[in-house]
Amino acid sequence: MRMYDLIMKKRNGGTLTKEELRFMISHYTDGHIPDYQMSAMMMAIFFRGMNEEETLQLTMAMAESGDMLDLSDINGIKVDKHSTGGVGDKTSLALTPMVAACGIPVAKMSGRGLGHTGGTIDKLESFPGFSTSISTEQFKRQVNEIGLAIMGQTKDLAPADKKLYALRDVTATVDNISLIASSIMSKKLASGADAIVLDVKTGSGAFMKKETDSFALAKEMVKIGNGAGRKTCAVISDMDQPLGNAVGNIIEVREAIDTLMGKGPDDFVELCLTLGAEMVVAGKKASDSDAAKEMLLQKIKTGEALNKLACFVKAQGGDPRYVYEPDRFRYANITDTVFSQNEGWVSHIDCDEIGICSLLLGGGRETKESEIDLSVGLYLHKKVGDHVNPKEPVVTFYASDEKKLNAAKERFQHAFHISESKPASSKLIKGIIYE
Ligand code: URA
Repeated sequence: MRMYDLIMKKRNGGTLTKEELRFMISHYTDGHIPDYQMSAMMMAIFFRGMNEEETLQLTMAMAESGDMLDLSDINGIKVDKHSTGGVGDKTSLALTPMVAACGIPVAKMSGRGLGHTGGTIDKLESFPGFSTSISTEQFKRQVNEIGLAIMGQTKDLAPADKKLYALRDVTATVDNISLIASSIMSKKLASGADAIVLDVKTGSGAFMKKETDSFALAKEMVKIGNGAGRKTCAVISDMDQPLGNAVGNIIEVREAIDTLMGKGPDDFVELCLTLGAEMVVAGKKASDSDAAKEMLLQKIKTGEALNKLACFVKAQGGDPRYVYEPDRFRYANITDTVFSQNEGWVSHIDCDEIGICSLLLGGGRETKESEIDLSVGLYLHKKVGDHVNPKEPVVTFYASDEKKLNAAKERFQHAFHISESKPASSKLIKGIIYE
């Protein structure tokens, strides 16, 4: 088999077989196929596309290019959750203890990632002492003992995807739905869960800006997951404004804790219940999503979900007192609140721009080497559709540097819009895909 022939086949609109895709991925991972040939192949796929079977086989080949985590010694149906990411997305922090409190074993691998704020791992490191650098043995033992563990992605998780994603990033071949779906799902399949619930974001702060693209991506990922024998569904959720009110790291952790204390913002609570219900049903702890939502709400009311978070933080070396006394968390020392000048309704919040405000404050990573300031962030007092009176607070910034604060404030002015009329309401949950 020669890579040259495979490139030609795809360039001419042919269909690659399982053997050809496996040859391509294994020889690319071990360095025998050079980047220039793989770039040509990615561009051929970009223009010619892949059918369902090709997409599944490419995903399986990438998933199997490194370690496939075996979670069979954890009792019960293991359910994983993945979000395509967005501004203020602290969902895993609240959702995983809620679901674990319902008796679903949650064994989750998370990343740091680049972006407006840190990833789940960075946010968890807001708890002093917390570590996600745990062995696979501790990871599995902890899930069996307390029902929840989160570890950093191992180096050998889908290495083919790591190499290929870096290549796509510099060859203008990222934004192809089949390639994105296989990239994300290869890591999920290698992470070993029996069932997967995906949160596919849509809107100005999402990777996929258009709803039709988000649905198409969701469908491809669900087909891959189910095709690989893992029960998979996808919730398509709004990211046209930040999720909840808090954007940053420590500030998002606090909002997640508030949520587990029964004081969460409506949109965030709705998303956690929707995703949580799918996880609880997939884990066979409830027969339908209404019963599952009721169960999840009970776990908040009784404090079991909050206790689960404390137990999890403690098991991974963190200080559980921060869970029960979140005032222990320290924000950056400059606090600045912006007040509204006019009366009106919040008509639009440019979500991506709000993310950039957080980045400007130092709350996110521009390159893999950037340091994150966990203590900075912003709190939106008003969301789209809210009424605003003159002199009411609109946003509070937490900054550690005046210059960075001013840059974020300047950017915010162009991102937050108040109009005289109430905007049409828009749904948080756009749909759920099961097949
Ligand atoms: N995230 C991924 O992991 N892969 C892609 O291709 C795009 C986003």
